[in-house]
Amino acid sequence: MKIGLTYDLRADYRAEGLPEEATAELDSAVTIEGIAGALAGLGFEVTRIGGLKPLMVRLLAGERWDMVFNIAEGLFGLARESQVPALLDAFRIPYTFSDPLVLGLALHKGMAKHVARDQGVPTAPFAVIASPADLAAARDLPYPLFGKPVAEGSSKGVTPQSRIERPEQLLPLCEMLWRRFAQPVLVEPYLPGREFTVGIVGTGASARAIGVLEVEVRPGAEPGIYSYDNKEDFERCIAYRLVKDTAAERAAAVGLAAWIALDCRDGGRVDLRADASGAPLFMEANPLAGLNPERSDLVFLARDIGWSYDALIGRIVASALARNGLAEAAPAPARALLGTLGQAA
Ligand SMILES: Nc1ncnc2c1ncn2[C@@H]1O[C@H](COP(=O)(O)OP(=O)(O)OP(=O)(O)O)[C@@H](O)[C@H]1O
Ligand SMILES: [Mg+2]
Repeated sequence: MKIGLTYDLRADYRAEGLPEEATAELDSAVTIEGIAGALAGLGFEVTRIGGLKPLMVRLLAGERWDMVFNIAEGLFGLARESQVPALLDAFRIPYTFSDPLVLGLALHKGMAKHVARDQGVPTAPFAVIASPADLAAARDLPYPLFGKPVAEGSSKGVTPQSRIERPEQLLPLCEMLWRRFAQPVLVEPYLPGREFTVGIVGTGASARAIGVLEVEVRPGAEPGIYSYDNKEDFERCIAYRLVKDTAAERAAAVGLAAWIALDCRDGGRVDLRADASGAPLFMEANPLAGLNPERSDLVFLARDIGWSYDALIGRIVASALARNGLAEAAPAPARALLGTLGQAA
């Protein structure tokens, strides 16, 4: 069975002259090697395609695959993560992870919170501030507040200045983020409680929370938030702990509810933080979660529950195969994993 691999390699775009921060979400060679190796181990014939443009060239030349493993994040626009899946839909080629609608929705944290909240998923009140005229929308939010770019990942734009104590700090923070990221700012109350990331495998009714990782900022790091700098230097700054207490169970339930509400597929993470009462609230979903074998939260979580990297990739692929009615055609090692879907870790 032929499987294509679509991705945006950070080094390719750095070589084209894009700055470090603009490529922070893109993948490194070790991730592509890891996924390609896992897929080959599952018995697939793997083609490394790359991002949108090489995919277009190959499709127009008539090349086809039975399925694509897609982790291409894209570079430009709010639909950047949707571009590769939209093209694959147009050519009727099945792929892993979410469809264009869901990837666009989840990338916009304000839209994602609207949709999750409408389905009863607990999330903090918020305002999306695109210009000074929108500031009134944040008037009733209780301080301290937290502001971040509405559609970035990898903690881009998240710094100690993201937490603001007083109303007169709000406009300067927004102006700084508008300048740097050219997009609206999501403003919500600062959540002072524990931070969790919930790992999920599967789709809809067969999705399961595989574990809950608590993200704790170590003394000496930028305090209290999983900021860009803390994430870059995670070995020194962050302690990741697999947790199973009552709050973690609540986080798993809210995370899974958000995953299903947003219609995310196959595998990923939902990030939550607790409010002052200890209730875990939905912050954002990651339907294209990082899969770096050495530094991604979902991979740490999988390792902590006893899954190898290859086992994690295998279960994601098994979910996509089952969803697309490709289980019978799959190579034997991949088929063997299908029976493990729908089981909690
Ligand atoms: N309302 C909030 N209160 C306190 N901290 C927050 C809040 N929102 C975000 N943070 C902090 O900022 C971090 C990054 O926020 P968020 O998860 O929304 O962004 P991201 O860049 O999309 O993350 P990822 O790297 O998972 O893609 C969170 O992990 C958390 O530590
Ligand atoms: Mg996050």
